[in-house]
Amino acid sequence: MRIKENCNIIVSHHPYADSLKDKLLKEAEIHGDLGGNRYYTNIIGKKLEVAPPQFEDAPSKKIRDWAEGLVRAEYHYPNSEKRSYDTGMWFSHYDKEDYAKVHHHLPFAIFSWVYFVNCPRGSSPLLFKSSGRRIKPEEGKIVIFPSVMRHGVPKNNCEKRITLVGNMSSRRVADPNLPEDNFMPGSASYPKRGHYTVNLPL
Ligand SMILES: [Fe+2]
Repeated sequence: MRIKENCNIIVSHHPYADSLKDKLLKEAEIHGDLGGNRYYTNIIGKKLEVAPPQFEDAPSKKIRDWAEGLVRAEYHYPNSEKRSYDTGMWFSHYDKEDYAKVHHHLPFAIFSWVYFVNCPRGSSPLLFKSSGRRIKPEEGKIVIFPSVMRHGVPKNNCEKRITLVGNMSSRRVADPNLPEDNFMPGSASYPKRGHYTVNLPL
């Protein structure tokens, strides 16, 4: 059975996109020199995995942190517990005729994002397959969407369309105001049933 998505996406523009662009392109080149990606990919182009911890101060981290902040602003309420989101990111490099097959990111993430770094004339849009919506590529624009949404990149018509792409999952992190083991189920200090929207064992 298949049911169409009806999801909200976040679209925003980075205020310092111009100054970040060259730094991000340089970083993409470094990851390319390291051999790119060794894992399965839907990209018929180049997927350049961002490899921590070598690049702890990398400009890509600025985009990732900004993306996480946008998700927090959209979905967290004031008393939300602390969450950590990063589950990996990579640069996608498309030359002429390159494309990405339609895919989703389950079960690896709850949100996925695409940040447009370099979009010469002829750059393909980001396509959401179920709705047919096409997101115009614009340098400095980020699109954050539920990872369940099926998406792809139609055949590209220029050299060097480059995006930075990430997956975000949600995991609990320790609250410094509580004992260190506060987030471990079964520990004495684990919050009691009723504090969360998930069903905990009695
Ligand atoms: Fe994707």
